[in-house]
Amino acid sequence: MRSAKRIAKLPPYLFAEIDKKVAAKKAQGVDVISLGIGDPDQPTPRHIVEALCEQGRNPLNHRYPSYFGMPAFRAAAAAWLSRRFGISVDPDSEVLPMIGSKEGIAHIFLAFVDPGEHSLIADPGYPVYNTGTILAGGTPHFMPCVEENDFLPDLSAIPADVAADSKIMFIGYPNNPTSAIATDGFFVDVVSFAREHDIVVVHDNAYSEIAYDGYKPPSFLETPGARDVGVEFHSLSKSFNMTGWRIAFAAGNEKVIEALGRVKTNIDSGIFNAVQHAGIAALEGPQDCVAEMSAIYQRRRDMVMPVLADIGLHARTPKATIYVWVKVPDGYTSASFAEHVLDAAGVIVAPGTGYGPSGEGYVRLSLTVADERLAEALDRIEKSL
Ligand SMILES: Cc1ncc(COP(=O)(O)O)c(C=O)c1O
Repeated sequence: MRSAKRIAKLPPYLFAEIDKKVAAKKAQGVDVISLGIGDPDQPTPRHIVEALCEQGRNPLNHRYPSYFGMPAFRAAAAAWLSRRFGISVDPDSEVLPMIGSKEGIAHIFLAFVDPGEHSLIADPGYPVYNTGTILAGGTPHFMPCVEENDFLPDLSAIPADVAADSKIMFIGYPNNPTSAIATDGFFVDVVSFAREHDIVVVHDNAYSEIAYDGYKPPSFLETPGARDVGVEFHSLSKSFNMTGWRIAFAAGNEKVIEALGRVKTNIDSGIFNAVQHAGIAALEGPQDCVAEMSAIYQRRRDMVMPVLADIGLHARTPKATIYVWVKVPDGYTSASFAEHVLDAAGVIVAPGTGYGPSGEGYVRLSLTVADERLAEALDRIEKSL
């Protein structure tokens, strides 16, 4: 069988590989604790599940959904953006529901990368920025986001010829995997860079609701001029413990929304209506569940940080996200440390290089396991060193 050349360029998907490793170790009888994948351990809040059950029984919801999402879901998304960030978007032309933001990430490159062109992507970053570019026939230009620069890209380091043949940039703060947050003025610089080089910015805001110590992550769309150059992706996955439901939305620049919609309408048929009703319940219902989730992760973070310090592992204290980005000890690479921790402690951590070359020297720990298991994982890692 002859497959397309682009498949050969696609790396195996990081988390599918992690799943395989967990399964193999479990088959050997190892009690594996996975800190490798950022999948909330808490259930979806009850009022959201109830909305799905009720709407799932309505035959009207069993037919094809509208291509551009239910008007009521788009309106709920726009109203949530207004309440949460004070930004106003037109629900009909500036909001587009997505079947999870991963779907939108993979597809938007088809709208903005021609074969042979570059995309500008954060490195380390969510792996689909890289693979989405490759699937579109483009070449990712990794923008290193290193600790010395607070894990923000240095826009002045992007070569002029690369900027000239790029039409899209992907960034996201609070960040996966580094858990960094955007510093003052960063988004302003991004807008001016995008204006100067005529580049569409996609700000991936999947972790906007998971923050600690009173920090409230902003929307990129609050930045003056942001709407002229870009869109923001919001996901209900982490905010409302809905990773399995597949619901998210893009908001912002009308032309970008139109271009993504054109790709999507030719590829998918939208989100199950009952799930969109559940999404409305999430966005419009009580929000205390969101604060409760952050409180759980903050408690876990506060448990993890002193232990890492005791073991002698360096990590910045996250202000947001469900991740801790940990420097590997001297003598290890990301991969060799992840392997060591799996073999010697039965703990899965995600190697930093899975997120791009600048992830070398780090591993990512996820706070999405129960407190006791998290404590045990750290104890085992400590003993393994
Ligand atoms: C930065 C980032 N973007 C997007 C996604 C995809 O989220 P979903 O497809 O569940 O909306 C994730 C998931 O982990 C993520 O970390």
